[in-house]
Amino acid sequence: MKHYTSIHDIDDINSWIADAKALKQAPLQDVTLGKDKTIGLLFFNSSLRTRLSTQKAALNLGMNPIVMNVSGDAWGIEFGDGTVMDGNTAEHIKEAAAVVSQYCDIIAVRAFPTLTDKTKDESEQVLKSFVTYASVPIVNMESATGHPLQGLTDALTISEHAKVAKPKVVLSWAPHVKTLPHAVANSFVQAMQKMDVEFVITHPEGYDLNPEITGNTPIIYNQEEAFANADFVYTKNWCSYSDYGKILSEDPNWMITKEKLGDAKFMHCLPVRRNVVVEDAVLDSDSSLVIQQANNRTYAAQLVLKKLLENL
Ligand code: CP
Repeated sequence: MKHYTSIHDIDDINSWIADAKALKQAPLQDVTLGKDKTIGLLFFNSSLRTRLSTQKAALNLGMNPIVMNVSGDAWGIEFGDGTVMDGNTAEHIKEAAAVVSQYCDIIAVRAFPTLTDKTKDESEQVLKSFVTYASVPIVNMESATGHPLQGLTDALTISEHAKVAKPKVVLSWAPHVKTLPHAVANSFVQAMQKMDVEFVITHPEGYDLNPEITGNTPIIYNQEEAFANADFVYTKNWCSYSDYGKILSEDPNWMITKEKLGDAKFMHCLPVRRNVVVEDAVLDSDSSLVIQQANNRTYAAQLVLKKLLENL
């Protein structure tokens, strides 16, 4: 594996999950692998979990992490090819990526979508530009359309907590006050499609994800029907894909409640808005796996970095 930019970079999810579990048992087992290696974490957007867990993963491998908030702290980066740079951008990605590649053995990038320009977002201009112009491996720390470190984490968490051989997993949309990306939902769908689970998606009409990603996964527009006999309910808000970037519904009836959840485990990537997306009674109960998920971010990232280091 040269880069980790998508769930599709996982060749065998079951072996990756087994490897991540082994790292979790002994996190310092490869503490010399990354000696004298540097990872640069470049954030165009905010983060708590990704920023800290990826640094922790790097430290567990003996790497030196350096972190930069690109938006605000760096020169404005131009991504357009052939642009006359007489506007607000001061440095081209061709130079920026080449320069950072001299300081870092791996570069990780977080760059959210515009949610106003679907074509631009789906082109993954920022992530793909780093892949093109950097000379070192690139890790996707959440891009316009995917969050594969989160997707791998979620697969690991479901594997750890499954009580039956083939659990039923439901991805449920929930209301939110802001327009949010599809990245987490997309990568979760792709991860579940690789696993041996009964997987369904539920959301109000108008919120279908990219059909090229959902493929043959069943979509049920009735949340109660979808939740029947669920073992895991993974919740996430996303904006409309067909009416791109729009909030079509804030229907509070889609909020996750203890009553709706029943015996299922609740999952969410965090951050989560209490009593908008999910009620306190769920998050404050043993049904919630959100803290365990966040812990697993370290081991998912550590596995990815380990594989990249072994391939340097
Ligand atoms: N789940 C997740 O990616 O969290 P952060 O946005 O805080 O990194």
